Amino acid sequence: MKIIVLGAAAGGGFPQWNSNAQGCRRARSGDPAAPARTQASVAVSRDGVRWFLLNASPDLRQQINETPALHPRHGLRHSPIAGVVLTGGDVDVIAGLLALRERQALTVHATQRIHAVLDANPIFEVLARDVVTRSVESLDAPFALEEGLNARFFAVPGKVPLYLESGSEPPPMLVDDTTVGLEITEGECRMLFIPGCAAMTPELRNRLEGADIAFFDGTLWRDDEMVAAGIGQKTGKRMGHMSLSGLDGTVEAFRSIKVERKVIIHMNNSNPVLLADSPERAEAEAAGWTVAHDGMAFTI
Ligand code: MLT
Ligand code: MN
Repeated sequence: MKIIVLGAAAGGGFPQWNSNAQGCRRARSGDPAAPARTQASVAVSRDGVRWFLLNASPDLRQQINETPALHPRHGLRHSPIAGVVLTGGDVDVIAGLLALRERQALTVHATQRIHAVLDANPIFEVLARDVVTRSVESLDAPFALEEGLNARFFAVPGKVPLYLESGSEPPPMLVDDTTVGLEITEGECRMLFIPGCAAMTPELRNRLEGADIAFFDGTLWRDDEMVAAGIGQKTGKRMGHMSLSGLDGTVEAFRSIKVERKVIIHMNNSNPVLLADSPERAEAEAAGWTVAHDGMAFTI
């Protein structure tokens, strides 16, 4: 299985357009220890010819341009992108679908809940239904991306997309088909893509155990880092993301889970692991984590 990281940052990207915080300033100035990152998405392929996008980020047009494997190969209209798989309904997960108009045949795989979000927003009708198949997948039920490449959604703790929150009360934590993890298998090879997750559960632990590679939610280093930096009022928990550090954090949780390659993805612009010279980056790497960057490639 071939895997290319198209984008490694969380919603907003790195640098985020309206952030003047130090990390974003470093990225904007071209600091080699703070390389810019587009919003989270990964491309997966069995043969290097047909590719499947895991999430469609608002930066998808740029990501395709920067990834030769995703360029048209023959004829006047062609794309190696055969399908898109969505793990949620947030803007950074679905907005890139709009860049895939132009009557190119592909399949969009998502849960019923996420398809309902797309169905309720007529702008997504630019993906003409006579050429773009919307395939509704049930939780825990395997589906084929193509022959030899199988996938499965599973529930992870999360919440409704930000723009569907109502009132000022924090939304309830959901473990259903709103926020999902994705498992892709090719023969004995197994990759997991979990860019958003509010908490580690025994079920998730079992799912991760023995994976060849896992891309995992790395939104924040510290649950209160945006509050502490004065750039926001929300904690990671409030946003539906577990944080990397701390006793209930991701780094600690994974110490007792056997995963061959652990990759941090969906990093908010405030996360110090984005900076190659930060102590937090050193700590994550010492614990066996790889910090994703755009263009990073894996073959498993
Ligand atoms: C998230 O991952 O929490 C969302 O992408 C937030 C957002 O929509 O900005
Ligand atoms: Mn997000």
